[in-house]
Amino acid sequence: MGDAGRKAGDVKTEQTRRRYDRIAPLYDSMEWLAERSAMSDWREELWSRVEGKRVLEVGVGTGKNIPFYSSGTRVTAIDLSPRMITRARKRAEALKVEVDLRVMDVQSLDFPDQAFDAIVTSCVFCSVPDPVRGFEELRRVLRPEGRGYFLEHVLSERRGARQLMEAINPMVVRMMGANIDRRTRQNLERAGFTIESEEDLWLDIVKLYVARP
Ligand SMILES: C[S@@+](CC[C@H](N)C(=O)[O-])C[C@H]1O[C@@H](n2cnc3c(N)ncnc32)[C@H](O)[C@@H]1O
Repeated sequence: MGDAGRKAGDVKTEQTRRRYDRIAPLYDSMEWLAERSAMSDWREELWSRVEGKRVLEVGVGTGKNIPFYSSGTRVTAIDLSPRMITRARKRAEALKVEVDLRVMDVQSLDFPDQAFDAIVTSCVFCSVPDPVRGFEELRRVLRPEGRGYFLEHVLSERRGARQLMEAINPMVVRMMGANIDRRTRQNLERAGFTIESEEDLWLDIVKLYVARP
């Protein structure tokens, strides 16, 4: 990538950080309905799959996954937004769960190669400005026998839904900071991951991918 491309990426990343810093105090209320109707079941499903001791959660947000961490694991959790990390820290303290929480950008991770046995995300790659770069970094820090577990919403492959999602994506980005037109399977593959399984959790829009590096 040239200097201009890198600068544009930096600007987008900074905008994302600011947006999530702004949303942080409201995030749990905004997500309340989704959480009650389906999301917390999906979280349980996601974390029941995770194998390995050293786990990296990316985009921890306010820490909604923390109740689902398994007691045998050592979790490091990162987020681009310092205010999200502050909220996640409060939740971890309230639940008495030990988590190594850090402000960090998934597109440029401050971890050595092969540092983790498992990587988990939920609804994160919709807002990462360069998702392929982010997945490349995750592949680098995952040990070769490890797995990535990605619960993500993606662009539908059904024509009508796809066209609608593409058409309203700019508005959704402005309002929520989330892209609803992400081709996450292709992005994972472009970053060098091999998809082991892909499950539809809701229509063909909310997916759970398990991938190896
Ligand atoms: C929609 S929220 C999801 C939060 C949480 N995973 C959940 O399930 O409730 C997306 C989160 O990803 C974080 N995020 C966005 N871009 C990121 C990046 N480049 N690196 C790390 N975290 C990022 C945001 O700050 C935000 O907390």
